[in-house]
Parts: sequence; structure tokens; C-alpha cells
Amino acid sequence: MKYFKLFLLVALLTVSCKTVQETTSKDQKATSTTIADTREIQGGMWIPSLLEGMNETEMQLLGSKMTAKDIYDVNNSSLKDAIVHFNGGCTSEIISPNGLLLTNHHCGFGAIQSHSTVENDYLKDGFWAMNYEEELPNPSMNVTFIKRIDDVTSEVFKGIDISMDEASKLKIINQNIEKVAKAAEKEAWQNANIKSIYNGNQYLLFVTETFNDLRLVGAPPSSIGKFGADTDNWMWPRHTGDFSMFRIYADANNRPASYSKDNVPYKPNHYLPISLDGVEEGDFTLVFGFPGRTNEYLPAVGVDQIANVLNPARIEIRDNALKITDSFMRKDADIKIKYASKYASTANYWKKWIGESQGIQKSKAIEKKRELEKEFTKIVNEKDLVGYKTLLSDFEKLYTEIESVSLAREYWMEVAYRNVELLGITFRAYQIEQAYLKGGEPAFTKAKESALNSFKGIYKNYSATVDKPVFEKLVTLYAEKSPKEYLPANMTNVNFTELTNNIYANSKLTTIEGAENLLAGTPDEVIKKLNDDKAYAFGKELHTVFYNKLEPKFQALNMQIEAVQKEYMKALMEVFPNNRFFPDANSTLRVTYGQVKGYEPNNGVYYSATTTLEGVMEKYVPGDYEFDVPQKLVDLYHAKDYGQYGENGKMPVNFIGTNHTTGGNSGSPAIDAQGNLIGLNFDRVWEGTMSDMNYDPDICRNIMVDIRYVLFIIDKYAGAKNLIDEMTLVHPKK
Ligand code: ARG
Ligand code: GLU
Repeated sequence: MKYFKLFLLVALLTVSCKTVQETTSKDQKATSTTIADTREIQGGMWIPSLLEGMNETEMQLLGSKMTAKDIYDVNNSSLKDAIVHFNGGCTSEIISPNGLLLTNHHCGFGAIQSHSTVENDYLKDGFWAMNYEEELPNPSMNVTFIKRIDDVTSEVFKGIDISMDEASKLKIINQNIEKVAKAAEKEAWQNANIKSIYNGNQYLLFVTETFNDLRLVGAPPSSIGKFGADTDNWMWPRHTGDFSMFRIYADANNRPASYSKDNVPYKPNHYLPISLDGVEEGDFTLVFGFPGRTNEYLPAVGVDQIANVLNPARIEIRDNALKITDSFMRKDADIKIKYASKYASTANYWKKWIGESQGIQKSKAIEKKRELEKEFTKIVNEKDLVGYKTLLSDFEKLYTEIESVSLAREYWMEVAYRNVELLGITFRAYQIEQAYLKGGEPAFTKAKESALNSFKGIYKNYSATVDKPVFEKLVTLYAEKSPKEYLPANMTNVNFTELTNNIYANSKLTTIEGAENLLAGTPDEVIKKLNDDKAYAFGKELHTVFYNKLEPKFQALNMQIEAVQKEYMKALMEVFPNNRFFPDANSTLRVTYGQVKGYEPNNGVYYSATTTLEGVMEKYVPGDYEFDVPQKLVDLYHAKDYGQYGENGKMPVNFIGTNHTTGGNSGSPAIDAQGNLIGLNFDRVWEGTMSDMNYDPDICRNIMVDIRYVLFIIDKYAGAKNLIDEMTLVHPKK
């Protein structure tokens, strides 16, 4: 039986070699002439409007029964109509005819937190609306649909010629972009924006529709939605029910409208049916969403710099900030809520960078890039491709030059902007002073209003007690380790303990009343008061060095690097015409596909592709900060009360696949061969976090919640049958 299957696969692939070759798409710039096995047709985040040809064939070889048009169609409803960019960061999908939206718990986290208090803690206990009236509005959030994607490359390049320098080219390109976007055919309530793919070698226009009335419908307790917390984050085997639900509301014409109690549930062009049949190794999966950023075509020197210079600095800074914050969160329930969201997002990338740097080393990514570059140079010389001969040496020179600038910038970002909250606050105030200097009183007033507005959110979750030791530790690190040529003068020869005590004892910026007080008065009075404030005076010097010295240098060098990268991208496609080149992610809508598959993280160790509730119970530690679960879940487990969601007496929880995903794909639907929802993407495995720079089909896996676990929690745990009733549950395998 096994051999027969293998034979079939080989036969199929031999035939397919030809098919793939012949149907190579002119749109998606990739070809694949020889396919040794399915590994070679995985990886890549593809543009949904360009799937016909190569991608369609590849998907079908992997088991898909869908056509390119089933996935993306402008004139008929298709899968893409159910895929929604969630608040600019994550992905979500429509799962009912009434605009019910599914995304991750960690994507809805900020919203869930904002409705929570110590007495009424939805983060801790979960939240379920049993009817429309109980759903909770989130006035500052939005979701966006993609209505149409057009290739506008030739319009964007109009008027460019090769003799121009980079800055002149960019100027014309930006003017064209504005013109083309303005002229785009669209409805009055829609938007049009243009983004480049392949590092500026191709341009796409996106017509979008954004809805602002988004209500919280359901979220499990964090002990389910964030089970395993930071210890399990970026790890497999995993057992997390990382989901939450919202609903989109529209006006009476089904169009976007700001929040109103008269709005009605949105009627989508398409919603995803949900499969109850589960997954097994080898099943086709497609992940549809908005991946944020990848850098697959960096030169070796660029990867080296990220993995060995920038990541270690960021990791060390955050490591210190996190340890201090965590010690306060663990002993104070109020601090725990206030810092929950900030802490989670800081910890998330801290851990990712650790995995990424390790993975780059273990997968020999830099050596592999060097090999490729050798081959590249050989062919460029053989074919005498004059324009490409200096690209790699240009990279070497530019990356060497930018290294200390990037590193100093990292210290400013991580310390003075992000992790020391008081310094982040001084940055807001600094913008007010700058606005006044540049634009006089009107600009001052505008900047002040915007700062006061953001202060409401900042101080709501601020504790000077937590922030003070973070300040002392991080500022000390900054002074010791940031490149000396960009170190602000007020950071040398300082006793940081004294400085910290002095600042936190005297600055008015440690409370919202103090901050509002400082900002009251005429512009000249405000500027004087600010400059007399100890925290402001210290922060101002850091921000001044950043703006006057660091940022201009960084931008100038970075523009040159981007120009070389654009040429290099083009050159790679020309020099290796038979390789698959997928465009780097840039928060635009993408399709990635693969199969459910385990992996071998280390020699002799195999991780299977699925986990069950048994594993939750193995990890369960009653009362633990990260591994506790609600008693009701334990009871359901003992009673094996899984209803229609269990499989052979077990409750599936998570599974992994070869889909190439990144940050932003959180909340993306995992879709089966027929277009049904089977899972919810939420993470990647530790050994594969380097996939943003070096996707490797052998070890890179995305992690999904099995959709049956989501349904089980909604139905059996929360008793929210009202939500199940809205959905369409199907049995495609039976
Ligand atoms: N690692 C996942 C992602 O990048 C999940 C993050 C949320 N969980 C957490 N413990 N911070 O978003
Ligand atoms: N958790 C990530 C997110 O928020 C997705 C995981 C990844 O980076 O692959 O988008």
C-alpha cells in the first residue's frame, strides 16, 4: 500500500515536472523545472491575484482541489472575501453570515484587557456575549477587506530612466504612486493604496474597505487562550487555545460606519464553512492572511549583522526589562493587568530573536548565502553582466558602514523609545517642542493635543514603581554598550543610581496630573516648564542625538542599501531563472500553502504533527502562573465530554504544517483542500523562527489551533451555543 502510494506520487511528480515547466506563470515570478519531492514546492507567500499557472499547479500537487479563482476572484465571491486585516496587525476571518470574526486571543488581547478590571477580569475569566446586546464596542479598532488587486508597475515606472540617480527616481515613483492611487476606480467609501513587491521591482494597487464598528464577542480565559504563556511561546509541542471572536457591524446599506447602536451585523460576500473532519499528516493546508515582513533575499553580510550584532543587543536590553517587570507583575494583580499587553509583546519578540539567531546558526544560513553569492558572482562574470558586478561588494561596504549606526539606533529605540516608559513620554513631549520650533503655535497646539490624547492610554497602564528600576538598568546598558560616537554627552561619567533617584523623585512626568500640568499654559511657558523638568531634560538630549545625528545618517545609508537590494533582487531572478522567487512579505494579502507535517528538531527526535487535550493535562500545574487551567476544562477532560468535536475519544488541540508564515499571519485561517476552515494560525516552531530570512521546508513549521478545539471551548466550555448556531459546520471527508 505504502509503495503503491509512493509510486503514484513519483509518477505524479514526474508528469508534473513538465506541467509546472510549461505552465510557469509570467505573473508570479517563479519557475520550478525539476521537482525532486514536494519540499521544493513549499515556502513562499504569494500574491492571491497572481496564482494562476505555477501556484495553482503546485497547490494541486500538494492535494488542493481548489482553482486559483476559488481563492481570489474579483467578479464572484471567493475565499479572499472572508479574509480580513485585523486592526492593522493581525489577520482574521469571517465565519458566519452575520459578520462573526475569528482571530487569535493574543490579537484581541488589547481589546480584552481594555474591558477588564481587577473585579471584572475578562483576561482571567474569559468573556462570552450570549446575544448581540452583550457584545462590547472597541471604538479605536478597525478591520480591512481587500476588494481588488491590480498590477500598476508600468504606470508607477512612467518617466523613469536608468541614467537618473536614486533620489530622483524615487521622487518620480512617489509622484506616480500618488497619481495612480488617486485615479483608481473605486467606490466613495473605499480606499486605494499602492505597495511594491520584489523590493521595488513591481507595484500593486489594493482597493480596500475598512470597518470601524468592531465588537468583542468572545474570549476564553487566558489560562486556555494563552496556556503555557511565555514558556511555551514559539514552541512545539503546543497546547494553546489561542482564539477570540469579534463581530463587524455596518450601516443599513452594509457599508462601513463608525460605531452606532443602530448599526447591524455585516453581511459578507463569503464566510468560511468549518470542517469537523480534522487533519492528518500529509493533508493540504492553505494559510491566507497579512504577513508583516520577511527578508529572504538579504545578502550574507546583512543576515550576519542581524543575527550576530543587532539581535544580541535587543535581546539583552529586553531580557533586563522583562525580568524587572515580571517580578512586579507576579506580586500585584493590578500591575499584572496593566502590564499584561505590553509585557506580552515585548516578551514575544525577545524570544523570537533568540530563536532566530540560534536558527540562523544551526541552519548554516549565512554559509548557504555565501555559497549562493559565489555562484551568483561566477555566473555574472561568465555572462559579463556588467550592471551586477559590484552589487555584492556594495553590500559589504554599506553594511560595514551602517553597522554602528544601526546598533546605536537599536539602543535608542529599545531604551529611549520603547522599554523605559518615562523616556517614551519625554519623546512625546519632545515632539511638542519640535512642532513649536518648526510650525509655531498652530503646530504646537496640534502636537500637544495629540500628546495629551496618547497620555490617556499610556498613564492608564503606567506604574512609576515598575518603570524606575527599568530606567536605571536600561540607561546604564545604553551608556556602556551603545557605540560611543552616538552616545549623548549627558550619558558619560554619570552615577545612574543617583540620576534615577533624582529624576523619579522630581519629574512631573511620572503621573498624568503632573504631565497635564506641565503642558498647561502658553507655548513659551510650556516649553520652559518642560525644559526645567529633570526627566524631560535628560530625554531631550537622547532624542536630539537621535534626530540630528543618528537618523539622517541611517536614512542616507539605508536608501543606498535599498537601491542595491532592488537591483540584487532583479539580478537574482535573472541569474537563477529556474529558482522559485516569492516576494517578501510587506503586510499585503498573501497565500501560503503546504501540508500538515511533523519535523525532526534534532537528530533522533521526531515531533508529530498534532497534539491533544492529554498534553494540556500533562503540562497542567494547579495554581501555576502559566500552566493552570480552569476546573471546568479538567472536568470536561475527565468526562471525555467532547461532543461532535472529539476524535477517537481524544480532543485535538494544535497542529503544525509547512506553511510559510510570519508575524501578521496570527489569526489567519488554515484552510483545507476544499476551502473549509480547519485551523487558526498563531505561531511558529522555535527551530524555524529564522524562516523570515531563511525558510527551510525541513524545519520551518507554522502552529495552528485545531478548529475543533475552538468549537469545543465555545460550545462545551462556555456554553455559547448561540455562536455555534451561526456557523456552517461540514464533513468534507465523509
Ligand atoms: N508568538 C506568537 C506571535 O508571534 C504568539 C504571541 C502571543 N503570546 C505571548 N506569550 N506573547 O504573535
Ligand atoms: N504570533 C505571530 C503573530 O502575531 C504569528 C507567528 C509568526 O510570527 O509566525 O502574527
